[in-house]
Amino acid sequence: MNPSKAGRGRFITLEGIDGAGKSSHLPAMHEWLLARGVDVVLSREPGGTPLAETLRELVLHQPMDALTEALLVFAARRDHVQQVIAPALARGAWVLCDRFTDASFAYQGGGRGFDGNLLKTLETWVQHGPPEVQPDLTLWFDAPAALAAARRAAVRAPDRFEAQDEAFFERVRAGYAVRAAGAQQRFVVLDAACSRDEVWQQVQAALQAHFG
Ligand code: TYD
Repeated sequence: MNPSKAGRGRFITLEGIDGAGKSSHLPAMHEWLLARGVDVVLSREPGGTPLAETLRELVLHQPMDALTEALLVFAARRDHVQQVIAPALARGAWVLCDRFTDASFAYQGGGRGFDGNLLKTLETWVQHGPPEVQPDLTLWFDAPAALAAARRAAVRAPDRFEAQDEAFFERVRAGYAVRAAGAQQRFVVLDAACSRDEVWQQVQAALQAHFG
């Protein structure tokens, strides 16, 4: 990789059901990119700006219907894209983001059963605004809902999403599978049921294959 030739930066997103383990690999991914001389912006969704972090608090903790939830995650995303992601990519930085639009198709679409065509409309409004933003690589940490639930139970109290049952998370997982099948050029499916070390090997292999 030669960052000086890169021009526009690269956009990498991490996805998976709660408890799949994606967030635990973010610091090492950050290091991997820094070691290659890349300017990296770490972020997350919902969130990444003061306004979007405020919306995150509401989405994770206040009761609301599926449409309100979908509008809020996309409102947060619009602010994040405009304030952080697009400017970073334009100056040649790489953006490493814990969740992005695929999470909306998986959680609001698959999990809540919210209409996929409306989500596509929101995606178009928010990401093809201008500015035009689409991940270059999406790592999907795929694990069965039962395993992810066991991992979550060991570490934290649940938010509104994490309190959902196993069937909800299997629907979310199925939502990710649909997105992955529709965007095979940018999606890499990782077997997140493996040990942490084995998953890290898979992450490195994916980074190497795309950007090595
Ligand atoms: P998560 O990324 O798992 O953060 P933490 O590790 O701090 O719990 O939590 C974000 C939650 O928001 C997660 O349960 C999925 C949900 N979410 C959506 O429902 N739609 C979205 O578009 C996004 C980005 C997240």
